[in-house]
Order: sequence, then C-alpha cells, then structure tokens
Amino acid sequence: MDALLQNIPLGILAMVTFFLVIGKIFIDQRRSPNSPPAVPGWPLIGNLLGLNEKKPYLTFVKWAEDYGPIYSIRLGSSSMVVLNSTELAKEALVSKFSSISTRKLSNALTTLTCNKSIVAMSDYGDYYKMVKRYVLSGILGTNAQKRNRHHRDTMIKNVVSHLYSKIKDEDFYLVELREPFQSELFQLAFKQSLGKNVESVYVEELGVTLTKEEMFQILVTDPMMGAIEVDWRDFFPYLRWVPNKSMERKIQQMEMRKRALVKNLIEEQRLHITRGEEISCYLDCLVSDGNTLTDEQLIALVWESIIETSDTTLITTEWAMYELAKNPSCQDRLYQDIRKVCGSEHITEEDLPHLQYLSAVFHETLRFHSPVPIIPPRHVHEATQLGGYDVPAGTDIIINLYACNMDKNDWEEPGDWKPDRFLSGEDEHAEMNKTMSFGAGKRKCAGSSQAMLISCMTVGRLVQEFHWKLKEGEEENTDTVQLTNHKLYPLQAYIRSRPEEVRFGRF
Ligand code: HEM
Repeated sequence: MDALLQNIPLGILAMVTFFLVIGKIFIDQRRSPNSPPAVPGWPLIGNLLGLNEKKPYLTFVKWAEDYGPIYSIRLGSSSMVVLNSTELAKEALVSKFSSISTRKLSNALTTLTCNKSIVAMSDYGDYYKMVKRYVLSGILGTNAQKRNRHHRDTMIKNVVSHLYSKIKDEDFYLVELREPFQSELFQLAFKQSLGKNVESVYVEELGVTLTKEEMFQILVTDPMMGAIEVDWRDFFPYLRWVPNKSMERKIQQMEMRKRALVKNLIEEQRLHITRGEEISCYLDCLVSDGNTLTDEQLIALVWESIIETSDTTLITTEWAMYELAKNPSCQDRLYQDIRKVCGSEHITEEDLPHLQYLSAVFHETLRFHSPVPIIPPRHVHEATQLGGYDVPAGTDIIINLYACNMDKNDWEEPGDWKPDRFLSGEDEHAEMNKTMSFGAGKRKCAGSSQAMLISCMTVGRLVQEFHWKLKEGEEENTDTVQLTNHKLYPLQAYIRSRPEEVRFGRF
C-alpha cells in the first residue's frame, strides 16, 4: 500500500481527499432544525483544534458555559453530542439506552481491546451478556468478592507493614503511598484473575524474563497511554486507507507484548487447572466446561480484569489520602468515627456499613477527582432525542462526568472537597448514584463494590494506624495525567503512628 501511494501523484490524492471531505461535510450539514446547538468549528477539521489540550473535559465545560449542557461538535468527519449534566447523562445512559448501547472505539482501542472483546468495551448483545455473566461470577459479584476476601485483607496488611517499616520512632516520617499500594493491588489482580501472585515470568515469545515492574508496564501503563494515542484517521474514517505506520507499529508492539505475556500466564495456570488442582479464580471460571471463548477473547478478558483492578482504585485511594492529609479536621473526624465503631480493633469490611463518614470521604473523592472524567464514547445506532433535541443515528455521545460532578446546579461550592455533602442519611445506593462516577444504567461499573471495599478499607486502616500530614509544597502538586486522572506526582506525606492500643487487634 505504501508503495502504491508513493506512486500516485500528490495532486490526485489531494483532489480525491478534497471531494471526499466536501461531500462528507455537505452531508453532515444537513442538520435537523431541532439539533442541539453546534459549537462553531473550522472547515474540514471542525472543533479538533479547540480540543488540542491535555484535558478535554475542561474544554467541554468551557463550551457548556456558552452553548448549554448539551451541544454538538465535529471532530473531522465525526459528529458528536456532548452531555454536561447529570440529568442528560442519566437520560442517555438509562432511559435512551436501547438507542445508544454500542461503543465507538478509536483505532488504538480497537487493537488494544482485541476488537471489543473485553466486557467494558463490548457492544450490548449476546457476547456482552455472556462475558458480563462470567466477570460477575468469576470475580466481581458478591460471592466471588467473598471468596477473595482473604486476598484483600492480606493486601491491606502488607501496605500497612510497608509503611511501618519506614517509621523508626514516635516522630513523623516522609512516605510515598503509591509504590507499595500499586504493587499490592497488582498482586491482588493476579490472585483474583489467575489464582496466584506472579513475581516474575519467562515469556517464551518475547525471549525474556519479566520482573513485576516490567509486567506492570506492559499490562497497565502502556495500554493506558496507548488508549489516548491520537490517530488522525479516527476523525477521517474515509481516509483509513492512508497509512500511519509509526502509530500502527507502536500500538501493535504494545498489543503483541501484552498478548504474549497474558498468554504465557494463562498457559502456566491452565496446566494446574487441567491437572485438577483446586484453583478458584476468574481464569478457572472462563475455561470451565461449555464456555466457547476463543483464545484471543480469553486473553483479552484476563487482561481486562488485571488492568481494571490495578488502576482506578489506586487513583481514588491516593486522592482520598491526599485530601485527608490536607484537611486535618476531616482526618480527625474520620479517626474518631472509626474509634467509635471499631474501638481498639482493626477496621474490617463488616464495619463499613457503620462508618458513614468514611463512605462520605470515598464518594466526595470520586466526585472531586473523577477517576473516569469522560465515559468511553457511546454510539447512537438508531435516531433518538436527548434533552428534547433530535440526535441522528451515527452520532457519538460524549458524557462528561467531570462536568456532572462539578455542576453548580447540583452541588453547593463544587470546587471544594467536602465529605459532609454525602451525609444526607440516605442509603449507600442512593449516595453512590449521586456522583455518577461509576456511570449509570445497564453498563454501570461492574467493579464498584470491589473498588469501594478496597478503597474504604485502605483509607480507614491507614487513618486508624497513622496520623497523616502533607509534605510542604504538596498542595501545588495536584496536576493529573493519563486517561484516568492519575495524580501526576505520587502523594508525599509525613506519617506518625497512632497510639498502640489501636494497632493490635484482629487480623
Ligand atoms: C473507583 C474505581 C472505579 C471507577 C470510578 C469506575 C468507573 C467506571 C465507569 C465510569 C464505567 C463505564 C460505565 C459506562 O460506560 O456507562 C465502568 C465500567 C466498568 N468497570 Fe469500572 N470503575 C472503577 C473500578 C472498577 C474495578 C475495580 C473493576 C474491576 C476489577 C471495574 C470493572 C468495570 C467493568 C467490567 C465495566 C464495564 C461494565 C459494563 O459495561 O457492563 N471497575 N467503570
């Protein structure tokens, strides 16, 4: 194809492209008189230049100030409708779900998800229903979560022990939470998915032995960065035939390494499973009799459970500890609340329903530091209406959760982190639905209870064991990075151990 393209005179290529694009624009501009307001853009590229910054959710909020909570934009030849309020988001995710249940993926995400083979990115249909059943029974449903309880307890115990190893006496010591917590969460991901922790592995296809850090890079960091790689052909699908070799090579390289590693991990564990060894894990459920998954799908699903366990829960927990270290009165209130409920015993998962302030800290952190600021775009497959406007089939829907969580109409002083706003006395379910941070409707996050258990237990235990204080200058370090709002720089805080009687109890 490259050689062919090189032999076509540039002028002809430009002319073909010109007519294709003009034709497409002409079609796009046949808008219904009842279309959402359109953000003015440039010929050919539409609003692409306006979105040329690291945090598109902030640009969407800026546009909402001028055009209202629902408006349309054009990115190249793709038409999108952007929703910036909870009411509109719920309408799209819940009441209009039957018209907006498919996904539009970028070229990079199509490759990295093995063409929509993972639960979170699959289109609603038979395959989705089958794999959603597997993920609930194998890892995220109530019974599976009960089975994995001892792994979670060990994880938290290890994080606490690691922090104690940094403390020598009754004084404050500087620590970083991210490294030990990330490493423990990654171990938990292996235990839940494969039934065992993996410290290192020889991958025959790659001809190397990989350390845990290298596995994390291949399974979590690289795909996260790959997911936000921009391929200009995503915006001009009729130019898909034009090669973009460097981008393709980069993503395919990432995918090849990830696939080789997961395949290796699966094969090792499969041997044990076929020998009849008792291994209770997600893989066990995925390969059980009667399942019809292809090898590619199996690899994609195991990888999905690893990356989902390792990423957003870490983000929420780190931001929660940042806020508590920054707000001593909130930290003290949480500590007193835990003492009241747990006495001198360590906090357990059974205590969580009685710890309303801890739950409020969790929900407020999700609202204020939305780990998923924009829901992966949905595709309108049959014409519908949103906010009273006509939305034609073929439109992509962008739901800006960040805007929902910062909406002045729903939240008093949304720019302040205030857990009290979640102490309404309503039940946990109602509180959780307030922020929409886990999405809504049929495609709502399947891992929300795992995220809550791990994050609340970790935050609760860390406050029970230690007094936290931000390192000087840390308040300036609130920048974020990556698709899921990671804190750019790991939290740095001083910790001092709390009185002894609290530290020894159950476990
Ligand atoms: C604080 C942590 C988390 C947040 C904020 C979060 C947020 C989200 C959001 C916004 C969606 C998309 C919903 C939609 O498209 O409407 C989603 C989907 C999903 N999440 Fe999470 N998530 C978190 C943790 C987890 C964890 C720990 C797991 C699993 C280990 C997980 C597994 C999934 C799955 C499987 C889906 C797809 C559900 C479906 O399509 O039916 N999530 N999550």
